[in-house]
Amino acid sequence: MRVTMIGAGYVGLVSGACFADFGHHVTCIDKDTRRIDMLNRGEIPIFEPGLSDLVEANVSQRRLEFSSRTDAIGEADAVFIAVGTPSRRGDGHADLSFVYEAVREFAPLLSDTAVVVTKSTVPVGTGDEIERILRELRPDADLQAVSNPEFLREGAAIQDFKHPDRIIVGTDDARAREVLAEIYRPLYLNVAPIMYVSRRTAELIKYASNAFLATKITFINEIADLCEKVGADVQDVARGMGSDNRIGGKFLHAGPGFGGSCFPKDTMALLKTAQDNGVPLRIVETVSAVNDQRKRAMARKVVAALDGSVRGKTVAVLGLAFKPSTDDPRDSPAIPLITALHDLGATVRAYDPAAMEQAKPQLPAVIYCQNAYAAAEGADAVVIATEWEQFRALDLARLRSAMAQPIIVDLRNIYRPEEMKRSRFRYLAIGRRSSE
Ligand SMILES: NC(=O)c1ccc[n+]([C@@H]2O[C@H](COP(=O)([O-])OP(=O)(O)OC[C@H]3O[C@@H](n4cnc5c(N)ncnc54)[C@H](O)[C@@H]3O)[C@@H](O)[C@H]2O)c1
Repeated sequence: MRVTMIGAGYVGLVSGACFADFGHHVTCIDKDTRRIDMLNRGEIPIFEPGLSDLVEANVSQRRLEFSSRTDAIGEADAVFIAVGTPSRRGDGHADLSFVYEAVREFAPLLSDTAVVVTKSTVPVGTGDEIERILRELRPDADLQAVSNPEFLREGAAIQDFKHPDRIIVGTDDARAREVLAEIYRPLYLNVAPIMYVSRRTAELIKYASNAFLATKITFINEIADLCEKVGADVQDVARGMGSDNRIGGKFLHAGPGFGGSCFPKDTMALLKTAQDNGVPLRIVETVSAVNDQRKRAMARKVVAALDGSVRGKTVAVLGLAFKPSTDDPRDSPAIPLITALHDLGATVRAYDPAAMEQAKPQLPAVIYCQNAYAAAEGADAVVIATEWEQFRALDLARLRSAMAQPIIVDLRNIYRPEEMKRSRFRYLAIGRRSSE
């Protein structure tokens, strides 16, 4: 099949490279010429484990190519839209301007029977509007608008794309279903189920899934706060709950609040859709509000660890990405934490293995360091904000000798309190006993 991917970001580039790896011929188009130039030089513009090798292998097999020109769309059987759908400034609705702009740009260039597939996360009814635009611009063509939401996670994107729990295809059109079945054939031969649903249902499945996962995280975060008050251990509570397979252990890790390029904006967009339809989603409203407060409140934990004030003190923050194995700091909990620490008069030193360049525009006052130990130099406290593998086994003696005071605030619960006590750290975690 000939596939075109519009948008070569985290989703478009990974999906495009994986489709090429399935044997399809894929063109990734992005209007960001810098990004396309990098890709054409063999450089990967994002940090995603395994992506570089996958792209290189498929480019050399001539199944994958990149262009910044929309007319590279050629005779594509399917055109996937994977452009951003950020929160719209001011009202929190999903900003669909990139989606509609893309459709208007490529519609005149499509073959008469192309299938237009929305992979971007878009509110219910967006597919109807895409169909309307296609009809308006190409009245004689038989173009189909399909929803195929993406569920991959940054940091494990290739694995997720190639081993999905399910593939959701939203369309009632038989020909479009056949095209999507052919594109995903290598996957469902490996038992990944394809679910055919209506387009509106597919659009809602994506938002409902993300809102549910965000709810699970927020639930365990509130239980963690209760654990701290009553002397229970949230790690054990989560394990005890999660081993019940009606509940499941995933997304039950207490932490500084959910962030990233999806959950915050998607919960907000779902709320707006619900309000517009007169069906307010009270649980999701609460999840979103509780999470927003939590991220900034993490600074209070650091203040408490430093005896009530961070003014004039130095705090080292380890991790800026919203999760490990990505360079993406979008809506990362580290950002409101650091902003609050700055507001309270602290100096912040930071290290992240991949996200420092991307974080700089949002956090210009941070002192960026070469590694965790350099960040800890002269620090009154180290805060673990992202659970990168390399932070899980720090040389605690070396860390301690670099610091002005041996205090660790572990917002990801990656150390054991006993271990910290042995290493003579004052240790504060989330929903667990602190060691003095
Ligand atoms: N990042 C994730 O983990 C993830 C997971 C599932 C779903 N999604 C959804 O997928 C969509 C894309 O997310 P992302 O993280 O890949 O975004 P991104 O910002 O990394 O990439 C979007 C790309 O689209 C390009 N673009 C915008 N308008 C264009 C146009 N008219 N023509 C060509 N290119 C254009 C941009 O230049 C950018 O490179 C969003 O709707 C997001 O919610 C993201």
